[in-house]
Amino acid sequence: MKFFLDTANLDEIREAAALGVLDGVTTNPTLLSKQVGGDDFKKILKQVCDVVKGPVCAEVVSEDAEGMVREAKELAGIDEHIVIKIPMVRNGLKAIGKLSGEGLATAATLVFSPSQALLAARAGAAYVIPFIGRLEDASHYGTDLVVDIVDIFDNYDFETEVMVASVRSPLQVVEVAMAGADIVTVPPKVIDQMITHPMTEAGVKRFLEDWQKLGAKI
Ligand code: G3P
Repeated sequence: MKFFLDTANLDEIREAAALGVLDGVTTNPTLLSKQVGGDDFKKILKQVCDVVKGPVCAEVVSEDAEGMVREAKELAGIDEHIVIKIPMVRNGLKAIGKLSGEGLATAATLVFSPSQALLAARAGAAYVIPFIGRLEDASHYGTDLVVDIVDIFDNYDFETEVMVASVRSPLQVVEVAMAGADIVTVPPKVIDQMITHPMTEAGVKRFLEDWQKLGAKI
């Protein structure tokens, strides 16, 4: 499973790259709005692409298909690694079909049902993005959605990749990995939580204390 970072913050992206676990980045209008100078979003996205050198998702904000297509082409011009995120609504589906036909990589975002994922894949989306945390906010078990989408895509050998988003815990990461998700995009906090285990910390502390008793140097 590939790991993407769900942030537009360059420091956080550089840190994840240094950990050796960064395959890509997802941004959205909310994440870009949190950055200082967020109005210079093209510059930020270009800098992110230079660090990641892998897929970087940037989202359109128009509500009509023509506007989405126009914005998508503008965003795609920033860097070859840009993937266009398009909300999984009627006009979004039209835009995905058109852009995919022209060879641009698209990601259907805000996916909350297997039927939405099926249509997006059929229209040619390179990725579908189920939001499992927000689904769980609404009292539905998020992993079930991922299991269903992975099953459907396997049935038809769709090349569309399942990129799980709105992830809030390490347990969700493990569950979607077991379900066969292709990609998980996580906020930096979840990477920190995945690294940390109290028994590992305690073990390191004890080894260091015992080594100090020895008084030797490596
Ligand atoms: O990239 C979009 C997604 O991950 C948002 O997550 O926590 O706002 O539901 P959240």
